[in-house]
Amino acid sequence: EGGEPAVQEQQQVVNVAHRGASGHAPENTMAAFEKALEMKADYIEIDVQMTKDGELIAIHDTTVDRTTDGTGFVGDFTLEEIQQLDAGSWFSEEFAGEQIPTFEEIVDTYRGKVGLLIELKSPGLYPGIEEKVANVLMERNMHRPDNNKIIIQSFNHDSVQTSKQLLPNIPHGVLAGMSWADVTDEQLQEFAAYADYFNPNRNFVDKNLVERVHQAGMDIYAYTVREQEHADQLFEAGVDGIITDFPEYVYDFPGQK
Ligand code: G3P
Ligand code: CA
Repeated sequence: EGGEPAVQEQQQVVNVAHRGASGHAPENTMAAFEKALEMKADYIEIDVQMTKDGELIAIHDTTVDRTTDGTGFVGDFTLEEIQQLDAGSWFSEEFAGEQIPTFEEIVDTYRGKVGLLIELKSPGLYPGIEEKVANVLMERNMHRPDNNKIIIQSFNHDSVQTSKQLLPNIPHGVLAGMSWADVTDEQLQEFAAYADYFNPNRNFVDKNLVERVHQAGMDIYAYTVREQEHADQLFEAGVDGIITDFPEYVYDFPGQK
């Protein structure tokens, strides 16, 4: 048969900047989120925790020790106290004085400019954090079905369910560490009852897992890529998104825009 040339199937992979472009700037700071935007990431991933006085902030560890010049548990600081810490110098002197941002500041700066992949980090330590996050989004009318490019995820699947009940129109994801490497189809079905994404550690991702997650009706974003080779492997496996410290690793696939 002659006629039309075959149209190349094009695979688009969503590029998620992990804690911002955290390979290039201190994680979970405005500098890292800004860098992600410059690098044209599709989403920024944000770790959300709560201060002693109930304010939502972006930080990964449950202590401030690794990423600031302070010491102690996040939940033992007030917002005013935690914002006096230097969250940039540990990464490089160029970022000295960078502050821990509030979740609201991040939302107000980036809504409509880049997708937000919001992780509820250690929510068991912060009762009511799901409601607080929901309120921030609802106050801004960001909880409606046409507001795509917002996803809420957690390793704590009870917290994901709580959040999904508060925000039924916002897509949610279950994070899955290595203890889920042997996840069954039945378990995937159970996740799919409330989650739209199954977001696993990249170490147990292969084509078969991707197919099974799709079969269950979810998308799959894998974490965390810090090497080009790992991005290539995930692309080959057919994931929908790649969560990476280096957004530049997700540009060079055939068909990628
Ligand atoms: O977005 C997924 C990834 O961030 C989960 O691991 O420890 O970097 O928050 P972690
Ligand atoms: Ca995270």
